[in-house]
Amino acid sequence: MLIMLAVLLSSYRSCFFSSSSSSSSVLASSQLFGVPNGIAKYRSCLRYSVTASNSFVSLSTGDVNMQPDLQRTYQVVVAATHDMGIGKDGKLPWRLPSDLKFFSKITMTTSDPETKNAVVMGRKTWESIPLEYRPLPGRLNVLLTRSGSLDIATAENVVICGSIPSALELLARPPYCFSIEKVFIIGGGQILREVLNAPGCDAIHMTEIESSIECDTFIPPVDVSVFQPWYSSSPQVENNIRYCFVTYVRVRKSATALVSSSSRVNYNSSLDSTKFNVENFTFLPRMIFEKHDEFMYLRLVQDIISSGNQKDDGTGTGSLSKFGCQMQFNLRKCFPLLTTKRLFWRGVVEKLLWFISGSTNAKVLQEEDTHIWDANASRDYLDSIGLADRDEGELGPIYGFQWRHFGARYTNMHADYTGQGFDQLLDVIDKIRNKPDDRRILLSAWNPSDLKLMALPPCHMFAQFYVAHGELSCQMYQWSADIGLRVPFNIASYALLTCIIAHVCGLVPGDFIHVIGDAHVYKTHIRPLQEQLHKLPKPFPILKVNPQKTDIDSFVAADFKLISYDPHQKVEMEIVV
Ligand SMILES: NC(=O)c1ccc[n+]([C@@H]2O[C@H](COP(=O)([O-])OP(=O)(O)OC[C@H]3O[C@@H](n4cnc5c(N)ncnc54)[C@H](OP(=O)(O)O)[C@@H]3O)[C@@H](O)[C@H]2O)c1
Repeated sequence: MLIMLAVLLSSYRSCFFSSSSSSSSVLASSQLFGVPNGIAKYRSCLRYSVTASNSFVSLSTGDVNMQPDLQRTYQVVVAATHDMGIGKDGKLPWRLPSDLKFFSKITMTTSDPETKNAVVMGRKTWESIPLEYRPLPGRLNVLLTRSGSLDIATAENVVICGSIPSALELLARPPYCFSIEKVFIIGGGQILREVLNAPGCDAIHMTEIESSIECDTFIPPVDVSVFQPWYSSSPQVENNIRYCFVTYVRVRKSATALVSSSSRVNYNSSLDSTKFNVENFTFLPRMIFEKHDEFMYLRLVQDIISSGNQKDDGTGTGSLSKFGCQMQFNLRKCFPLLTTKRLFWRGVVEKLLWFISGSTNAKVLQEEDTHIWDANASRDYLDSIGLADRDEGELGPIYGFQWRHFGARYTNMHADYTGQGFDQLLDVIDKIRNKPDDRRILLSAWNPSDLKLMALPPCHMFAQFYVAHGELSCQMYQWSADIGLRVPFNIASYALLTCIIAHVCGLVPGDFIHVIGDAHVYKTHIRPLQEQLHKLPKPFPILKVNPQKTDIDSFVAADFKLISYDPHQKVEMEIVV
């Protein structure tokens, strides 16, 4: 601590200021922080650097005798086309008022009204801002020039620096370490080519422009071996340009051997569980942090626990329940496998493939060491619901049977139903491929005449698919949902089904919308769920599907690879039957 204090006091370095106001602001700060008070302030500045470790980075020189330099870390805000074009003829090549609004909001908002944020930009970006809008109001404008060719009259809120490190060092020292909450680097090309994937970059807020627009200034792509999507908005269209807002967060300090393109994925292991180096993402602006899709699930849990209706249910356990709930998960950038507790990914995959195969035999899953259906397929349970003549493990005409053989006469799980009944799954795929605007792309597991033959009536009973802009979305209706234990699996299962069907139809996944009738929390799940609510989400993993497979009936578990799933620990909850 003392060493670092000495470093701070001695390392007032080479940042140069050509604007008189910036010099005076530094002068004012050294007057303000006269020695005794100053040391106290430096101390609290250092304390901040320890507690909010994501705001500062110590750059080790590798020489043990040399002191490390303290620099502010930063977040990048940029709008870029698919091939990473950001500018043309010294200007923005598009007019997107909503993007400018987003830019203003994210760079201006602070959690403490006494502080502001800094926007760091290259000289040419500064010059591209219309005179009447610069300096950007409400923010400290940090301008970068090597030549010092900027000719700025005394302007408040402007400092000029000769290098990126000197700007980040300046912002790490008083007065800026107190007065500046977040540092955003905003362009242009020359600056972002240096900083975009550099170790000090905590997050990248990128407006991803899908339309192809001619550019002459480019930046490198986001390094997906260290950054992972935190949030992605639904696509929007403005002035005929389709775009979305995506935030990537740094999860690893340095690049690993992680793969980024599906063709290079090793499908022999289904889960890449490489740990994140970064565990806490609260450095993100609140307006972004709270948009992680997992918060929808956590808010629903919280809402049911705090104001659900007391219900007696058939299980005798007792539950709290709400009626009519909806969650929407964006599948475009990542896969919604919850991170506030570890989920059994292999079980999700095996169970869905088992549905797709049309099987009704729980023993097939048991052989894969997946025991999700054991309780509803046991001898005692089948006897208790009047299905004593059934073999143990036989569930009756549940999901898979209805998806593949709707209307066929069910006899037992050993019979061959090939060609019998209506194959809804193939019909869905055929419609998506050949009549994508059809409004009746439906998959129903609810067959009233078969209900009495089922070990459990299908809770997730109905799905509708929708195609637009080359994307496949799915809305599923679930009349009864065990929010604590089963719903996280249901979300993952239908998200995976959407990804698989999109894949075999040559589309990309869009949204999964989960509509729930009776959403309940069993009383025995309240305590573990409250424990889970204390955890903060981490970035969702990325799903890669084996590109060699295009037939819905050809998939095996190893064809699905989940990249970078690093959740919190498992939360134990007992199964209520
Ligand atoms: N799409 C977006 O989100 C976005 C954002 C910002 C800008 N833009 C666009 O990007 C274009 C401008 O980008 P650009 O690459 O031409 O210029 P730029 O990066 O904005 O500015 C380049 C200038 O910055 C200074 N500079 C560069 N590297 C530096 C360093 N390491 N240390 C100190 N100073 C440094 C130099 O100034 P001196 O020559 O004075 O030494 C250099 O000429 C425009 O078209 C603009 O509209 C787009």
